[in-house]
Amino acid sequence: MLFGTQRVNARGHLEVGGVDAVDLAERFGTPIYVVDEDSFRARCREYVSELRREAPGASVAFATKAFLCRAAAQLAAEEGLRIDVASLGELQAALEAKVEPETITFHGNYKKDEELLAALDAGVGLVAIDSTDEMRALSRLASATGRRQRVVIRVAPGIDGHTLDAISTGRNDTKFGITAENGAALRAVEECLGLPGLELVGLHAHIGSQILVLGPFALLAEKMVGLAKTASVRTGWTAGLLVLGGGLGICYGDDDAPPAVSELVRTVVATVRRASQACGLKPPRIELEPGRSLVGEAGLTLYRVGPVKEVPSGENETRTYVVVDGGLSDDPRPLLYGARYPVLLANRAAEGPTHVVRVAGRHCETDTLFDVRLPLPRPGDIVAVLSTGAYNHTMASNYNYFCRPPVVFVRRGDARLVVRRETVEDLLRRDVG
Ligand code: LLP
Repeated sequence: MLFGTQRVNARGHLEVGGVDAVDLAERFGTPIYVVDEDSFRARCREYVSELRREAPGASVAFATKAFLCRAAAQLAAEEGLRIDVASLGELQAALEAKVEPETITFHGNYKKDEELLAALDAGVGLVAIDSTDEMRALSRLASATGRRQRVVIRVAPGIDGHTLDAISTGRNDTKFGITAENGAALRAVEECLGLPGLELVGLHAHIGSQILVLGPFALLAEKMVGLAKTASVRTGWTAGLLVLGGGLGICYGDDDAPPAVSELVRTVVATVRRASQACGLKPPRIELEPGRSLVGEAGLTLYRVGPVKEVPSGENETRTYVVVDGGLSDDPRPLLYGARYPVLLANRAAEGPTHVVRVAGRHCETDTLFDVRLPLPRPGDIVAVLSTGAYNHTMASNYNYFCRPPVVFVRRGDARLVVRRETVEDLLRRDVG
């Protein structure tokens, strides 16, 4: 299973963006995150063009929590996407990438006053309000500084995204958003309309991540139109915008069959249109805010194999451990969510798999990455883990004081370092005791 521009070249090596992955490992060291720029751009274009075709005026925002560096925010902005941020750090990175503040949405379920003020100061286009407490705080801060901030209210729509519990965020029992089903969201709309410093432009919901079926998205579109209609009857205010979140899943294995972007777009647009017509509501403008499905399959991680050990694993059975020079700190997802990925040997990509081996990290933890079928790895081989473009670089940590890997963008034979490898000096700079 290969993605985007990935192929096996004449040397029998994995190639991506026209660059030999083994050369990348030699040149930049390992572990390393590699992003296939053309494939990332292609996904951005697909979302934008599908949405524009189906619903002129609709927009796409890139959820930067999935993958962020200045180059990524710049790329998404160049492709015509808005940018979602969920912290001061993400906001700052987007601003430094010269993203137009007007195209930024500020998210988060606990935005501190200093963050709300920074968002106001930056002039972000939208703040997604997550609670009534936050709504009142933002109103106070905006009016104290003589501003009027455009906002959407994030609603918990009471929908199960049919994905992992940790990333199913649209149910009633969630810390995110304001509950729709008990009337709290409607009351928040009413209150918001009366608060100084705020201009309510629409409603927002996000039901989860790595969703592989379209049903929950259609249900979400329907429920949000229903809520907009009730709000309009109750208050006379009409939602001009429905932000229907991200969540589209990607391929992590042969058995994953995510719907195409075009199918998602058609489903959402048709449902909003039909539901609006049915209840006599002017169809609101639609925004989607994907993260994973824009960049996940465009990214891969390269590791170098260290020790290979065969150990007894049961009666007359053995297991081969293949230790790589990364693990939990550059990819916590296998331990957190039981995540799996396509894996191959980048320097022996033409060889068929012959052995089931356990690839493990080098942390002081049983950080098994995955059990996979590979040609029997040898020390020095390069392991390529595919589909790591989302929630790897942004979820990396410094456990064991390992330094976080660099990010390299590859495109048409060129490799461009966009985030350098962290150094021990970087780590120790904060240690002031
Ligand atoms: N919008 C909001 C408000 C979100 O909270 C998220 C993701 C997105 C958009 C983008 O969702 P996506 O298209 O990427 O599914 N760390 C987890 C994923 C957490 C997702 C959090 N929210 C993982 O590694 O699987």
